Amino acid sequence: MTLPSQQASMAWTFHPHNATLDLVFFGTFISPSGWVGWGINPTSPEMTGTRALIAFPDPNSGQLVLLPYILDPTVKLQRSPLLSRPLDTHLLSSSATLYGGRMATIHNGAAIQIFATLKLVPNKTKIHHVWNRGLYVQGYSPTIHPTTINDLSSITTIDVLSGSTTKGHNNIQTLKTVHGVINAISWGILLPIGAVIARYLRHIQALGPTWFYAHAGVQLFAFFLGTVGFSIGIRLGELSPGRVYGLHRKLGFAAFCLGSLQTLALFFRPKTTNKFRKYWKSYHHFVGYACVVLGVVNVFQGFEVMGEGRSYAKLGYCLCLSTLIGICISLEVNAWVIFCRKAKEEKLRREGLIGVSEKGSGSSHG
Ligand code: HEM
Ligand SMILES: *[C@@H]1O[C@H](CO)[C@@H](O)[C@H](O)[C@H]1NC(C)=O
Ligand SMILES: *[C@@H]1O[C@H](CO)[C@@H](O)[C@H](O)[C@H]1NC(C)=O
Repeated sequence: MTLPSQQASMAWTFHPHNATLDLVFFGTFISPSGWVGWGINPTSPEMTGTRALIAFPDPNSGQLVLLPYILDPTVKLQRSPLLSRPLDTHLLSSSATLYGGRMATIHNGAAIQIFATLKLVPNKTKIHHVWNRGLYVQGYSPTIHPTTINDLSSITTIDVLSGSTTKGHNNIQTLKTVHGVINAISWGILLPIGAVIARYLRHIQALGPTWFYAHAGVQLFAFFLGTVGFSIGIRLGELSPGRVYGLHRKLGFAAFCLGSLQTLALFFRPKTTNKFRKYWKSYHHFVGYACVVLGVVNVFQGFEVMGEGRSYAKLGYCLCLSTLIGICISLEVNAWVIFCRKAKEEKLRREGLIGVSEKGSGSSHG
């Protein structure tokens, strides 16, 4: 069976009468000093709790070794190095070989087979398989694997008797998708649209004060949606302790603070006649543009964090954004054309007037 990530696969024979599972896992190394691990989680489809067999080059001899590890909760938090210890499951035998035989060397892309014979709990044939691979082993302690979405989807639940897989509905995955979609729409599209409305529709006399209501409406809605997305982000952060996306998190907080400031500032808006109005206006513009820029940059950061740096979702977002930028450019050009025409008319009129008055004054003098 081909596994869903890391080009890994697995083959097995299950003997129901003595509940013995003979299994081989096929994986690939991602570095000459890296590790490849496969294991079973007796309780749940996740990394923590997995009983794993990890293969890597022995630091002393350079030969391939396969050692057992129990991934207890401290491993994920990186509180202590991962140390080998005997498994508490019935592992009857295990071994590992490099594809290509004795002469094969461990390198990036080297294929490896991990063999294991286990005695399962009778009548419990649905097994959570967990696998992963990392770049580096410190002594005999494998260190953390990459954490892109692809590397974090290396779990599957298989009924070894029937061979059927159970799609474990992954709540965190759903939450991540919802977080991404909501934030891309609110911070990444609606807020910029709101700014565009304020910048360009304001000058259209026919619309009157409508631009203001449209602007305020779009921004308040976007901020409301953005707050929901932001809260989901905070919750996601709590759900995966030990994992910090420094930049994405910081930018998120900064954008949210600016957005809140902007919303709060609405309540302290001086009247049009107030002499502080112009300061409030520049403040509002500055914070507003900063917020839009941070929001858009962080949407791109989010794509990276989710391992969607080259996805159709990102392409779609880029298309939306470039359409918006295109609209902005044409509106900007249009505004300039109108401005220049007005200036020209103004100049002509002034010259005309000055011409007339000069003539007038000339004649009066004359
Ligand atoms: C030093 C060793 C290791 C460290 C420090 C480590 C750290 C982590 C961290 C921090 C995450 C959570 C990422 C997130 O959800 O945001 C994670 C997830 C994961 N790890 Fe590891 N890991 C280690 C070893 C292993 C090994 C040996 C395996 C498999 C044989 C493995 C399989 C997984 C899988 C499948 C996930 C995604 C599912 C989940 O979050 O439970 N890890 N790891
Ligand atoms: C289980 O049964 C198979 C044959 O059906 C046999 O090859 C294997 O050695 C048995 N395993 C144990 C642990 O008894
Ligand atoms: C496993 O299931 C079989 C029949 O399906 C039953 O006879 C047997 O007692 C069960 N064993 C355990 C340990 O539950």
